Amino acid sequence: MITGGTDGIGAAVARALFSRGDRAVVIGTDPRKGARLLREAADSPGTASFRQADLGSVAENRRIIRELTEKHPEIDGLVLCARYFQTRRTVTPEGFEHNFALFYLSRFLLSHGMIGALAKGDRPVVVNVAGPGQDTPIDWADLQNENYDGVRAMFATGRYNDLLGVDFARRHGDGPVRYVLFQPGPTATSFAGEYDAPTARFVEHQKATAKPATEVVPPILGLLDAPPAEPVSAFGTHARIAIRDDPAAAARLAAITEQLLGSG
Ligand SMILES: NC(=O)c1ccc[n+]([C@@H]2O[C@H](COP(=O)([O-])OP(=O)(O)OC[C@H]3O[C@@H](n4cnc5c(N)ncnc54)[C@H](OP(=O)(O)O)[C@@H]3O)[C@@H](O)[C@H]2O)c1
Repeated sequence: MITGGTDGIGAAVARALFSRGDRAVVIGTDPRKGARLLREAADSPGTASFRQADLGSVAENRRIIRELTEKHPEIDGLVLCARYFQTRRTVTPEGFEHNFALFYLSRFLLSHGMIGALAKGDRPVVVNVAGPGQDTPIDWADLQNENYDGVRAMFATGRYNDLLGVDFARRHGDGPVRYVLFQPGPTATSFAGEYDAPTARFVEHQKATAKPATEVVPPILGLLDAPPAEPVSAFGTHARIAIRDDPAAAARLAAITEQLLGSG
């Protein structure tokens, strides 16, 4: 199960999975990209299916969890890759800052919402592809980036994902599901988003110079095939990295998140 599976790192992981005979379910917003992957999968030993969803919406995440866990009661791996950069702050129709909604709330909902199906899977693991290892401090008074800077919001939200992994392990660490935070480092992908001119120039430079997404695939496949023993761990493309695990902050963020979702 791969969110953001229609492009970039997620699509590269999906291709590798169906090419070796696995079943990949990809989630994205663009049906043309979904159809392209399905065409590629048709000639491969494995299978692919596509679900269209705007994961910036809480209701859509809940729909996807319901539909996919009904259709796939056993899930071996959940790879979280969906993201969308915005130079300017926007708010979803449900009232959440967009980066917070897509890059964090969706991952919170999917990680916890798929736990039943994951627990029945074979060596089940969640691989949250984001930015562990960054030390962006949490601004508890401004979790949804009112004081907006697109890059800072992305790093801050990456930090929320670290804490999601820490809190997930506290809740579910006695069970079979492992949680891995994965930092791909600079990678040439679609860099989906809306950029102002200076950021767009930087992104074009990244696309031209960074490593291809296929280079990130082997370590992610390795984690899917043989998840680490620890309930939560963090990896870069070549090695383990430290988790800045702050259990008190993780519990605090989870409590705030649940409150927001209760009223969101
Ligand atoms: N690339 C890098 O240099 C880099 C560095 C560090 C960390 N990362 C992390 O790696 C992960 C993957 O990044 P990437 O660069 O491979 O991504 P990408 O090429 O920008 O692709 C983003 C994916 O997210 C999907 N998406 C965007 N908005 C969505 C929405 N509202 N609902 C559902 N899906 C949505 C897109 O699907 P559609 O096009 O179908 O909408 C696409 O499949 C991200 O979490 C990112 O933070 C990347």
